[in-house]
Amino acid sequence: MSFYVTTPIYYVNAAPHLGHAYTTIAADVMARHHRQRGEDVFFLTGTDEHGEPVADAAHALGIEPQELADRNAERFKALAPQLEASNDFFIRTTDPQHEAMVKQVLSRVRENGYVYEGTYEGWYCPRCADFKAENEIDEDRRCPIHHIELTREQEENYFFKLSAFQERLEELYAAREDFVVPRTRYNEALSFIRSGLRDVPLTRHKLTWGVQVPWDPEHVFYVWFDALLNYYTALSYAPSPAGLAAGGGDLAKRFWPASYHLIGKDILRFHAVYWPALLMAAELELPEHVFVHGFLLMDGEKMSKSLGNVLDPFAVIERYGSDALRFYLLRDVPFGQDGSVSTASFELRYESELANEFGNLASRTIAMVHRYRDGVPLALAPDPELDDEFAGLAQEVAAMIDRAELTAALDAIWQRVRRLNRYVEERAPWQLAKDETRAHELDLVLSTLVAGLRVLAVLLHPYLPASTDKLLAALGSEDRSLASARWDSMQALGEPIGRLDSLFPKSA
Ligand code: MSP
Repeated sequence: MSFYVTTPIYYVNAAPHLGHAYTTIAADVMARHHRQRGEDVFFLTGTDEHGEPVADAAHALGIEPQELADRNAERFKALAPQLEASNDFFIRTTDPQHEAMVKQVLSRVRENGYVYEGTYEGWYCPRCADFKAENEIDEDRRCPIHHIELTREQEENYFFKLSAFQERLEELYAAREDFVVPRTRYNEALSFIRSGLRDVPLTRHKLTWGVQVPWDPEHVFYVWFDALLNYYTALSYAPSPAGLAAGGGDLAKRFWPASYHLIGKDILRFHAVYWPALLMAAELELPEHVFVHGFLLMDGEKMSKSLGNVLDPFAVIERYGSDALRFYLLRDVPFGQDGSVSTASFELRYESELANEFGNLASRTIAMVHRYRDGVPLALAPDPELDDEFAGLAQEVAAMIDRAELTAALDAIWQRVRRLNRYVEERAPWQLAKDETRAHELDLVLSTLVAGLRVLAVLLHPYLPASTDKLLAALGSEDRSLASARWDSMQALGEPIGRLDSLFPKSA
């Protein structure tokens, strides 16, 4: 089994912000979960470095685009490890291997008869690097996303014959109802297709900052075609990830087509319409799923660097740690929908859920095993009273993550965190400890808590990698595999457990 997940590649016209961290975190949760299943996983992220948004930002700073790209790509690259993202490769679209492969694939698209010369005229947003359809534009001719004035552009271009794929795209959507998820986005993409596809510019000739068109060096490829192809080109030169290596070193054989492209809703059309058409034109296999998440909103507006209302992920991580940020974003904003984020709701989740519910459960369990049993829980099967809630949990979570329902999966796990907290309260081990005749009951409760914590730590590992590593180490368990989180095979190891510092200190 192989699993290939991607994030969009991020524009290097400015520094990373929370919106970028969001998709990277979500993709990382999926990648880590699939590795826990023993699958051969490839997780790709990177930067989109060509095109007008980058060229314009560089010129505004009085520097060359390459210099700006180098500077900001470093910052995006540095963000990944700070988020604990386990990406296998970081692609930059200025990598010469990527550029060479873009030329090769798009030449094939031309040889296959899907490219022609023509004149394009339309309303253009330089920040989106995109022409807007008439029905997207309001009366004052502003970009619906950036609120800046659109410009009327006319260009001699090479065109991609998108219209040739009208029927095949409709067939694709009819045959594969989970090609785009969630459903609302599938419907949106399908209605765009049904409204009639028009050909789109494949090249630009006013720009020089891009991948040169091999059959006409006066032109560069329109940045979106160069960018979309990153998902494919990366596999031609990324180093092989440690893993099962089925199919040897050829990563395209091992991982293509992608299992999931995770994207924000603003780039739906490119991924749900242009991308499959382009792949068909190049005779390449289509991805299994495009998952579309919503926007993180602050004060009701999309957070974006051009609007200036950003929340700095670096600052949040420095104060609370990356696990807290990962947890907050996937817990508080239903994955797939828009949601508001704020420091107040962040602090509430941190205190009430991470510190009080999970952190406390872990530290009090470990403290009680030390206090009452000198750190050695008995090797007993866990209390059958919890079977209903814990047996089958790992499979339930896996099924949800298969559908990219990351918030729902986290919620299912969290209900069991709460269940285990209730169990402690109901059984009151501190009372049992006072009565020698109830020693066996106490042993059962402690073993059950240790088993329950191990299940929870393994299932939470993709979401909270740093703190669950500490917890699992304290519980004396090196195993992170999903199979090790099966309740029916679970029993305390009968080995001494370690000590644990507070996982989520309140004074953070
Ligand atoms: N470079 C293109 C993507 C090319 S993919 C072949 C691009 N870059 S971007 O940096 O502008 O945005 C990258 C992703 O970040 C998009 O999916 C976008 O939706 C996401 N986010 C940017 N701001 C966001 C929020 N405020 N909330 C959630 N995600 C948003 O588009």
